[in-house]
Amino acid sequence: MTHTIDTPSGLEALGARIRDARTITIMTGAGVSAASGVPTFRGDGGLWRSFRAEDLATPEAFRRDPRLVWEWYDWRRSLIASCRPNPAHDVLAQWSRRDGVTLITQNVDGLHELAGSRDVIRFHGSIWQLRCAGGCGTASQPWDDRQVPLPTLPPPCPRCGGHARPGVVWFGEAIDTDVLSRCLDATACDVFLSVGTSSVVHPAAGLIARAKAHGAYTVEINPELTDTARYLDLAVALPAEQALPALRVWEDWRSPGGSGHES
Ligand code: OAD
Repeated sequence: MTHTIDTPSGLEALGARIRDARTITIMTGAGVSAASGVPTFRGDGGLWRSFRAEDLATPEAFRRDPRLVWEWYDWRRSLIASCRPNPAHDVLAQWSRRDGVTLITQNVDGLHELAGSRDVIRFHGSIWQLRCAGGCGTASQPWDDRQVPLPTLPPPCPRCGGHARPGVVWFGEAIDTDVLSRCLDATACDVFLSVGTSSVVHPAAGLIARAKAHGAYTVEINPELTDTARYLDLAVALPAEQALPALRVWEDWRSPGGSGHES
């Protein structure tokens, strides 16, 4: 039976374990941005409660109706543009300054980067990037575009004039091989934290099991624990924005004589 903690005061031992770990991998999902006002996908008010993924987030949907797909992404971009990082993003940004910490996110919102996290591995891409939908020379080269709203829908590819598409991973698409290989490497860690994800979308959801198989201490942080939690070492049934600051890891890493390897 997985040990469960549901009060911030119970997090001292986990904080100590993270402070002493040589390598820590954190994978975040939509729940980490919930307190910033970004809708999740599957919870109350989640996007997939009101929209059908197969109409909006697949290559087939884009081929069928690129304008409809872009209207939805343009709306999400406008919504996210008004959101700010919350204390969960801030804590992870502090941790990212230490050697041995790898941050993987399934989120496309860019809030980890806005909080100052370094070297974020974006498993599902970025809503702030576009790439050529037609596979012209820029196909593998996404470009940044933060205009909200976009002036033309669908936006054009600057190279071939065809349609650009959102720089995100859609259902049925493969994860970039370099991204996947970096994530697989990061499962060989001392502590693996899964934060704010329903752990149902693969291959991201499989990373924590792989980390456990490698011998990592595995933890889920989610106010509504998932089915995966019962296979893990520890379940923290708290919102990320409460749990992560309560670990008080950074204070010790920074203190003289703390176990930090800050780079
Ligand atoms: P989900 O919406 O599936 O799950 C969000 C999780 O966050 C739920 O388990 C909630 O209980 C939890 N949660 C809510 N508020 C929280 C808080 N304050 N702190 C911590 N946890 C909280 O989102 P993801 O698991 O990220 O894929 O979804 C995975 C993928 O499915 C997304 O990346 C997206 C989506 O379709 C693509 O776009 C390819």
